[in-house]
Amino acid sequence: MVKSYIVKISRSIFLCLGLLLASCLPPRLAEPGVVSASPVSTNAIRAIPLPSKTPEATSPPAQANFPSCEPAAGILPFKIVANQEIAQPTDAPSLRLLAKQRNLFVGAATDPGYLHKDNAASQLLAREFNMLVPEVAMKWEVIHPEPERYDFSRGDALVTFARQHGMAVRGHVLVWDLQMPDWVTNGKFTRQEWMQILCTHIKSVVGHYRGQIYAWDVLNEAVNQDGTLRNTFWMSKLGPEHIAMAFQWAREADPTAKLFYNDNGGEGLNPKSQGIYALVQGLQQMGVPINGVGMQMHTSLGRAPAASELAANMQRLAELGLEVHITEMDVRLQYSTSDLATKLAEQADIYREVLSVCLSAPNCKAFLTWGLTDRYSWIPGFTGKPDAPLLFDKDGLPKPAYFAIVKLLANQ
Ligand code: XIL
Repeated sequence: MVKSYIVKISRSIFLCLGLLLASCLPPRLAEPGVVSASPVSTNAIRAIPLPSKTPEATSPPAQANFPSCEPAAGILPFKIVANQEIAQPTDAPSLRLLAKQRNLFVGAATDPGYLHKDNAASQLLAREFNMLVPEVAMKWEVIHPEPERYDFSRGDALVTFARQHGMAVRGHVLVWDLQMPDWVTNGKFTRQEWMQILCTHIKSVVGHYRGQIYAWDVLNEAVNQDGTLRNTFWMSKLGPEHIAMAFQWAREADPTAKLFYNDNGGEGLNPKSQGIYALVQGLQQMGVPINGVGMQMHTSLGRAPAASELAANMQRLAELGLEVHITEMDVRLQYSTSDLATKLAEQADIYREVLSVCLSAPNCKAFLTWGLTDRYSWIPGFTGKPDAPLLFDKDGLPKPAYFAIVKLLANQ
């Protein structure tokens, strides 16, 4: 029963993707080699002839047939300003030192807003982590607030911080339907203009940070709980074909960044993770450049995915040649009625278990929490209730979860 349901989901996602190449061009672009007279004419869409390849072929990438665009005028590559001192990672025992020996990135989501004000927090970030991800600084509403205006200042500040402290950066996020500016959410455009808007956004943002980002979350949260594709904002404007295009545009803008699909709730084995698997497998079979799957891992006491399922999910993605990152881990305490010490111990067990699965999976290369300390966690704002879901408490002091993963990383 469950099996036939899963087969049905995979089939419907596959069919949907199968239609992509056939349907992704607006009719007037269908002729190979024609430069369109797009109303957004500064960024000409180019139609490139399709290579002859069977749907099963996995290479070369199916870039053909995709409309494309140029970055917005005036976008410059991001460069670290000269003569900034590059701080060496500290020798003090830390997560990052232990993780380095295990060939793993450990990271946290952060924001320049508090890093600038809170010296202790920025020291903690640089001491403990060798990767960071902007919590909001690269989201559309911040980085591209008006049609002709990009604001890279907050993203640049974080990339600079990372470089100064020998840290890698995950880019978050290119295609998502939250935290978008009004000009996009309320915009009235033709299909072809929407395509130009999304393409130009991706080319401009990814192009600006070309060579600086270890991995980009190209597409975020596009699958329903039941494994079907969500009717997202971009789905409603462009149909499922925007998915393959987004990855292709990102690849054109940065040939070295790893390109990820990122989601929550598909960490264990369930209809959602089956849908994500079918999606990424379908994209690969079409030759779309995708390198990995981000597992957000927003979880809570008593609700974490079973370790065996997480391992099996990572394993099947490894068989597709895909990298996996734990991208946004936090563990809420608020639904448990136990005393605080018990809750913190259970939280530590969950962190340890997830990291332990990651360490045993050769394709799991990064482990990030969504926020640095409990003071800066998004969870209280999101749920409306106080919580303490991270590795460090409000004062930046390590919690049992921190000590549990240090021990694990140190093989103790
Ligand atoms: C959250 C941020 O933490 C909040 O500050 C913001 O208000 C809303 O978004 N999944 C994601 C993240 O991919 O981008 C979200 O971040 C949390 C859920």
